[in-house]
Amino acid sequence: MSIRIAVLVSGHGRGSNMAAIIDACQRGEIDGQVVLVIGTRSEAPALQRAAEKGVRTRVISPRNLSEEEYAQRLLHALDEARVDLVCLAGYMRLLPVPVVRAYAGRVMNIHPALLPLFGGKGMYGEHVHQAVLESGMKVSGCTVHFVDEHYDTGPIIVQRCVPVEDDDTWETLAARVLVQEHQAYVQAVKLFAEGRLRIEGRRVRILPPTSP
Ligand code: GRF
Repeated sequence: MSIRIAVLVSGHGRGSNMAAIIDACQRGEIDGQVVLVIGTRSEAPALQRAAEKGVRTRVISPRNLSEEEYAQRLLHALDEARVDLVCLAGYMRLLPVPVVRAYAGRVMNIHPALLPLFGGKGMYGEHVHQAVLESGMKVSGCTVHFVDEHYDTGPIIVQRCVPVEDDDTWETLAARVLVQEHQAYVQAVKLFAEGRLRIEGRRVRILPPTSP
């Protein structure tokens, strides 16, 4: 059964992970369809990019709303679109708790480092890669994980590593990680679409493919 996917982006998100998921669906690599992209601001380049790919977009801004009202609007949009999976891709805030609970085990996020290192509030973009460089780590990478009620702490689905080079700046490291992000996110969504992810406590078991 083909799954229905919504992608949530924030602010001025460029949407490269979103585009990777849409493209993988459109070329049939993922048995699913991105039916909705929700942004927090209309100016997000990601929304423009989604529209160019023929995907419906909506703006739901948390500004001037209580957390409860914002949650209800998100839930209404997701329910109305009959969404099976929500993918956060450059979504910079904590997803409201009612949404996390209603879609438990059906919300994923991508983080540009190897969690549980270099995660948590304020750890995004440049901050993550600078922290990796300052730590002296020789490897970094990305993590796709299920979303719980906190920043970057949900069960890990897929991780990919990249080397940290001696002459890296945060920009060169970010670019190397980003290539892996796109592949890791597509892999995780594909596994979900195939019904092959089982959450067991903090671990996510990847089930073997079922024979046709
Ligand atoms: C990515 O680095 C992702 O890991 C993080 O936000 C960034 C979004 O980039 N959560 P893009 O908008 O998908 O290009």
